[in-house]
Amino acid sequence: MFWLLLLASYLIGSIPTALIVGKLFFGVDIRDHGSKNPGATNTLRVLGKKSAILVLLIDLAKGAVAAYLPIYFNLDVDPIYFGLVAVVGHCFPIFAGFRGGKAIATTAGALLIANFPLLVVSYTTFFLVIFLTKYVFFGSISVGLTMLIYALISTKLELELIFLLFSLLLIYLHRSNIRNLILGIEPKINDKTLIND
Ligand code: G3P
Repeated sequence: MFWLLLLASYLIGSIPTALIVGKLFFGVDIRDHGSKNPGATNTLRVLGKKSAILVLLIDLAKGAVAAYLPIYFNLDVDPIYFGLVAVVGHCFPIFAGFRGGKAIATTAGALLIANFPLLVVSYTTFFLVIFLTKYVFFGSISVGLTMLIYALISTKLELELIFLLFSLLLIYLHRSNIRNLILGIEPKINDKTLIND
């Protein structure tokens, strides 16, 4: 059962929401536009607000549903494992040639079920950092750093390891944003490249 649910978590995470929304409603591959990232931020930039909200909610639900699986099936295991597997699915989706997103929404969904206090701390930081800098990816990296701090102060070895993995993955996934910032081409939250303009 454990491995079956882990596989289910990966498959749930692999659903390429932004790709589906782009193809279904606009006939475009989101990975050819804007930052080329199939996530809510790039959907906002390229397809507009309504599509971005839809992508955000579904990507968030993917993490939450995966993390809820062990609770529903009464497994004696921390739900965060299943959330992390959904995040891996979102980043490396089997349904989209392993070219996925950066998992900030799916991570929030996983934390919603698995670690609510950490969700509150890390995503309050996320919004605060975006408000102050106007760069979404700075907010995303702050989520990774919050998890790193959580891993460092955690007293349980399994939590230390899992949140270390989470934080390294999130920071690694944002390497193109760091490169763009250095090159001076990283867009701010209000910069749009709408395909309908
Ligand atoms: O959560 C994704 C965000 O941090 C960056 O997205 O499209 O600007 O690469 P994007």
